[in-house]
Amino acid sequence: MNASLHNKNIILGVCGGIAAYKSADLVRRLQDAGAQVRVIMTSAAMEFITPLTFQALSGYPVHTDLLDTEAEAAMGHIELARWADLVLIAPATANSLARLASGRADDLLCAVCLASKAKIAVAPAMNHVMWSADTTQNNLHSLSESGVEIFGPDAGLQACGEVGEGRLLDTEQLVHACSNLFSRGLLQGLKIMITAGPTFEPIDPVRYIGNRSSGRMGFAIAEAAIEQGAIVSLIAGPVHLTTPQHCQRTDVETALQMHQAVMSQIAEQDVFIATAAVADYRPHQVQLQKIKKTTDKLNISLSPNPDILKEVAALSKPPFTLGFAAETENVKDHALLKLKNKKLNMIAANRVAHMVTTHEESQTKQDSGFNSEYNALQVLWKDGELILEHARKTQLARQLLTILANRYYEKTST
Ligand code: C5P
Repeated sequence: MNASLHNKNIILGVCGGIAAYKSADLVRRLQDAGAQVRVIMTSAAMEFITPLTFQALSGYPVHTDLLDTEAEAAMGHIELARWADLVLIAPATANSLARLASGRADDLLCAVCLASKAKIAVAPAMNHVMWSADTTQNNLHSLSESGVEIFGPDAGLQACGEVGEGRLLDTEQLVHACSNLFSRGLLQGLKIMITAGPTFEPIDPVRYIGNRSSGRMGFAIAEAAIEQGAIVSLIAGPVHLTTPQHCQRTDVETALQMHQAVMSQIAEQDVFIATAAVADYRPHQVQLQKIKKTTDKLNISLSPNPDILKEVAALSKPPFTLGFAAETENVKDHALLKLKNKKLNMIAANRVAHMVTTHEESQTKQDSGFNSEYNALQVLWKDGELILEHARKTQLARQLLTILANRYYEKTST
């Protein structure tokens, strides 16, 4: 699979040229590369090939009209514009290039392009004289100036029987060009699994044992990893956070469920990042009815939970592992011990108690660790360490992944 197109939303704009039939295959190849494809056809395109072909291939109704109330109610042009990561117009005719360059918005395809913040790419296909016409070249120049990517065209025998420049690029070349648009991340194509949040261990139907954890650090790392081109699986305990775009999320509640969710997908992962505050113990027996309050002492017998991270690191072919150590004292020593005992590649340690005493700093610095937007980390590995100063978890996540990428590539290149 072409990792950089994995989970990308692509609008394929098909214009009215003879090469439109090649776009049918393009839908399939983009899907094979992991993308979701929706098709917009201009009215001229429908003279060459039917919307039904694209509907059958893409699995979605084809969008054709700007002023169709039914279609607008299903997925309107603004919604389409927001959905897309890329609008690829293939084939792009001389007419569509001219319309795009002049900022027209009187058909669906042009309106979506104008309303979208997505990347836009055009793959021109036309007669070679039309292609070399000054007006076409001027239009391309201004499109390129405004950030539109131009794919091709190729030279060769044309549908009109003449030879010259203006053939649509091959499907394979188009898919490759699309994937290049996204393949610029530090963790491009790496499969990364992240655990996040607490686990809740039921005592009875209404009570549980749990940890103080918001899941923010793990979710911030998931978002930063996606930004850097990783394919992310997020295994989340009970948290109140929005799923980052383009990530596959599995919700769990208990440590045993988290263990099961991790182990069932771990074989295909390159990196495992354990930010979850997994409960170390669970009630040995879950009461089926609510325990009634009495004045007597109540003992709850606890059984240890599996150490998910330790188990992952002990696999015969383990992924690169990054653990977290939330400590209240001797942070570095405890973290180093965990790095060694659990056989991890890296560990990120943080103090979770009150951190400072000066009055001015206390407002921000006490606000750190569990349940906070902020954190500070000491990142340790076998023969090195780096301190990441107090900052927003989103910012820390990016810094942490930069260190991880260096360590990961150093390890895998030896
Ligand atoms: O041993 P301790 O719980 O302090 O280790 C913390 C690290 O181990 C964290 O990365 C946490 O996500 C992971 N962990 C785990 N499964 C457990 C306990 C901790 O994956 N049962």
